[in-house]
Amino acid sequence: MRVGLLTSGGDCQALNATMRGLVKTLYQQRKDIEIIGFLDGYKGLMYENYQIMQPQDFEDILNKGGTILGSSRCPFKKMRVIENGFDKVAAMKKTYQKLKLDCLAVLGGNGSLKTANLLSQEGLNVIGLPKTIDNDTWGTDYTFGFQSAVDIASRYLDEIQTTASSHSRVFIVEIMGHKVGHLCLSAGLASGADMILLPEIPYDIEVVARDIEKRIKTGRRSILIACAEGAISKEESMLSKKHYKLKVASREGQSVVYEIAEKLSHYIEKEIRVSCVGHAQRGGQPCAYDREMATLMGVEGAKLILNKNYGQLVVLVDHHLTSIPLLETAGQLKYVDIEGSAVQNARLMGISFGDV
Ligand code: F6P
Repeated sequence: MRVGLLTSGGDCQALNATMRGLVKTLYQQRKDIEIIGFLDGYKGLMYENYQIMQPQDFEDILNKGGTILGSSRCPFKKMRVIENGFDKVAAMKKTYQKLKLDCLAVLGGNGSLKTANLLSQEGLNVIGLPKTIDNDTWGTDYTFGFQSAVDIASRYLDEIQTTASSHSRVFIVEIMGHKVGHLCLSAGLASGADMILLPEIPYDIEVVARDIEKRIKTGRRSILIACAEGAISKEESMLSKKHYKLKVASREGQSVVYEIAEKLSHYIEKEIRVSCVGHAQRGGQPCAYDREMATLMGVEGAKLILNKNYGQLVVLVDHHLTSIPLLETAGQLKYVDIEGSAVQNARLMGISFGDV
């Protein structure tokens, strides 16, 4: 049995752990397994850049960050792109057929899973494994890499906390997460942030300023704001998609926290500083929870392959590992439930979301 394997999109900590779980199970359960590792994500599949993997390639990689196969951003935004007469989907299908693959396992986030679904719709045998520090894949409670990123962002916030306190400053710390706030919410809660700004809850700068003043009046020396990179203001949330994109482009790649700090400086006296956790959130070793879950998700992926249950994505729902059709998850994002217990309980204990 020939199984293709690729890691696509922004990397995260437990990619190797997932591949190890999947491949070890396949080797254990069948004698005729051959693993073809495509290099740098879908590019490898597209341009026939691959490596025939050996069992020892998957030894001792459980706690290794990054990905032994390399990764790249998904090759296209629109579903089927023909560039200079080169049909990317046709090229991927051709490699799959030429190598006589029985199946392709894709470790990826939303964009990559959309492509996995497309290939599945095109008749290839594909399974998906949900990777991303953003935890925004629809249909699963958890994506591997998320918990390691939460740990890193929380420790970063802890460290900011001490210097913020020494200097009696307001700190706005940017946390990754793309268009959703799961990472920021979890890290903010885990590190005792005073305020958490999320894309799902547009902030009002006057409310943010008033809240800071109130806390200072009641004796708080420093203020820690955990701010998701996708955080938006009330005004921005009312813009059309096109105008919002123009607004974001006008930042010229500068993080949203600079803009918030600038706006805030018109309302408050206290010194304001900004800081970004950045790509460290995706780097280094996976935490124990990610290692464990990624391993088990990998095994679940192997079970899908062994049972020829293709077109599926491995998911964790209510603490149970299962799978759902790739078709169901493709193109959908999982947002923070703003009526859910995490946000509501945070509000009850006085954490502000900058909206009321
Ligand atoms: O999807 C993971 C993620 O780290 C997001 O949180 C972030 O917006 C993005 O990738 C950064 O992408 P890149 O590594 O391409 O700059």
